[in-house]
Amino acid sequence: MFGTMATIKCIGILTSGGDAPGMNAAIRAVTRTAIYNGFTVKGIMRGYHGLVTGEIVDFRSKSVSNIIQQGGTILKTARSKEFRTAEGRRAAYEKMKAAGIDALVVIGGDGSLSGAKTFAEEFDVPIVGLPGTIDNDLGGTDSTIGYDTALNTIVEAVDKLRDTASSHERLFFVEVMGHTAGFLALNSAIASGAEAAIIPEIETEVDPLAELINNGFRKSKNSAIVLVAENPETGGAMGLAQRIKEEFPQYDARVTILGHIQRGGSPTAIDRILASRMGEAAIEALKEGQRNVMIGIKNGQMVYVPFSKAVAHNNSINRAMLDLVKILSI
Ligand code: F6P
Repeated sequence: MFGTMATIKCIGILTSGGDAPGMNAAIRAVTRTAIYNGFTVKGIMRGYHGLVTGEIVDFRSKSVSNIIQQGGTILKTARSKEFRTAEGRRAAYEKMKAAGIDALVVIGGDGSLSGAKTFAEEFDVPIVGLPGTIDNDLGGTDSTIGYDTALNTIVEAVDKLRDTASSHERLFFVEVMGHTAGFLALNSAIASGAEAAIIPEIETEVDPLAELINNGFRKSKNSAIVLVAENPETGGAMGLAQRIKEEFPQYDARVTILGHIQRGGSPTAIDRILASRMGEAAIEALKEGQRNVMIGIKNGQMVYVPFSKAVAHNNSINRAMLDLVKILSI
């Protein structure tokens, strides 16, 4: 039978979707744990695209030397259109079989793990996922690989912005990534002492801008920094600055969009350790006969999260953290 626990000899690894710092540490951990356990390993280039086109290379222990400290992904990444089609997935399955790959480890975010789920269901392929995304928006895990590094990158940038914001007594809207989740904005707001966080999770309930202004955010302050989660529906930080111009012209607002800077850089020790543990856990999972699960971390322990739960988008924001931003910015 294809790909049952007993027949897994060769494991393919790929990274897919937006890159995240720590993906290389995860690739290293998966590769070395697999080799340690007697499996052979193949690296699949450019995510699912490389699976469809058969861009597959042999991996040895040395293939992953000297990468734990590097941002990005040595396997490259892509958001494959072909893999979203049934023909694309069929081609991927054929290429996988031709390369002798029995099981996959997929490192990526919700789109990548949704793709893994569909592929696993259609072709009965054992797949284990690792949560690789700066957004921290996957279910069943307290953290994703890359999230801590991105948070630290944001905090470093906001510390710099604070210098100029306070010199000029200005209001700054700093837009951060997060896809449709506010984790990066909320937690970087706390860590940087920002005056507010505007996140998609609350924008449907209140008008966060009116709340901010009406709370008199500048009463005792000479600058204000507001962390804004990207949001195509409201225009994110640019949308808020435009509204300030129109509705509260007495304020001198500026916008900084941190953009893809948040995705790069050397991973923090926390992300390297998380990726190393998760990489090892992925191989242990395959050895145990697990399939179609993502490795998560819950209260410090490695856990198996079914793909359906991981991609369900039901992570809720901790309201107490939002209150904390308010309390600490009086
Ligand atoms: O999912 C990771 C992420 O960085 C999101 O935060 C962001 O919305 C998106 O990817 C950006 O994607 P791209 O690299 O295609 O611009």
